[in-house]
Amino acid sequence: MDCFIVEGGARLSGTIHVNGSKNAALPILATALMTDEPCHYHGLPVIRDLQTQVKILNTLGVETRWEGRTLATRVVDTYNSTAPYELVKTMRAGVCVLGPLLGRRGEATVSLPGGCVIGERPIDLHLKGLAALGAEISFDQGNVRARVPRGGLRGTTIYLGGKFGSSVLATDNVMCAAVFARGTTVIECAACEPEVVDLANCLNAMGAEIEGAGSPRITVHGVRRLKGVEWTVIPDRIEAATFLIAGAITRSSITIGGARPDHLIAVLDTLRQMGVEIQQRGQRLTVVPPARPRAAEIATMPYPAFPTDVQAPIMSLMAIADGTSLVTERIFPDRFMAAAELKRLGARITVNNGQAVVQGVERLQGAPVMASDLRCGAALVLAALAAEGETRISRIYHIERGYERFEERLRRLGARIRRAPESASGGEA
Ligand code: EPZ
Repeated sequence: MDCFIVEGGARLSGTIHVNGSKNAALPILATALMTDEPCHYHGLPVIRDLQTQVKILNTLGVETRWEGRTLATRVVDTYNSTAPYELVKTMRAGVCVLGPLLGRRGEATVSLPGGCVIGERPIDLHLKGLAALGAEISFDQGNVRARVPRGGLRGTTIYLGGKFGSSVLATDNVMCAAVFARGTTVIECAACEPEVVDLANCLNAMGAEIEGAGSPRITVHGVRRLKGVEWTVIPDRIEAATFLIAGAITRSSITIGGARPDHLIAVLDTLRQMGVEIQQRGQRLTVVPPARPRAAEIATMPYPAFPTDVQAPIMSLMAIADGTSLVTERIFPDRFMAAAELKRLGARITVNNGQAVVQGVERLQGAPVMASDLRCGAALVLAALAAEGETRISRIYHIERGYERFEERLRRLGARIRRAPESASGGEA
């Protein structure tokens, strides 16, 4: 396994281009299951989670071919409709094949995702929605099996809100299954994330009839079949936010190209509250950093509020801010693994009951730290860029799940970061 070795303090400069969205691509690739025609998905990031999703599609009878950042797909057989545990356990989002399989083939078996470091990952809302459409749900040895009764799925009105509000992938799964249901389905308390909108737009390009995506009420008029599609996924707003924070935390005026500022409203607002100005020219965002950011208060909630996936990265910036910040995590209350590692770098963070109090310090000090999940890993890299001295970040395979060539792209901006075998001794970055 590899680690990153970062020598902090370098100023960054130049432009970095945002890749396609991981969280749009994962459910959109599952639409390949919903048609017998060839599909081409463009602008995909080359990351581990997409490779896992492709393996899941292959086990489900989808032939795939990479052509640079394009994935060409075609269903060649439909005999297996079970997404295997050994793949879904490495990527919870594998559950997003459930709705497409059920809608198109009338049955689907997916291993229950289980938990991960950011918290339990239940799928009760997914199953509630599919059952409301008429699916018969059963459980068997850690798998959930959904089957369509004779007569097919029937459109209905479904309230899909949970105790943490809307659910992104539950909305995706129910929307996909409803595409082939007889009649009209209304999803109330639907997730409004841009990635849900991208999925709905892709399905409509395939011949679906979906209205209201991006609002809490999505209406799906059932159709009989879908065509193939050529689709380019939206830019990754979480990656864009990560790079904006990289500029702010190193006091560097870098430019992020190919972003969608309209997908980043809450993040841009928080950065501005912290004294970080962002100049917008179309899809180019240029960071104008203060000498030292101000503290802020945020609460993560479903879109368009502050995204939980940017909670750890913004906490790294808060760690060196002037004043005391407050982070309330309302989506995954246990998602504070980054705090313990940031404290190893000298951050002063107290976590209690889904809240983190961050007392800003002047400087962080490099130290060996460990990534526990994708966004925690990114947060540790950001903190290391600003820390004095050397930081070694282990278990970077978490980062590689969702950030393509992370260290290479940061190095191109002037960051002193390199990859080394995990057992590597220290030495120059
Ligand atoms: C998506 O996960 C994202 N993943 C996550 O990004 C993101 O953190 C999350 O949405 C929240 O924005 C993908 O899109 C592939 P949820 P998802 O269902 O859909 C609870 C990353 O780092 N819930 O919106 O699985 C759940 O426990 C990843 O890129 C239920 O209670 O999240 C959570 O508290 C991490 N029952 C809340 O809802 C359910 O059936 C929101 O989760 C489903 C969810």
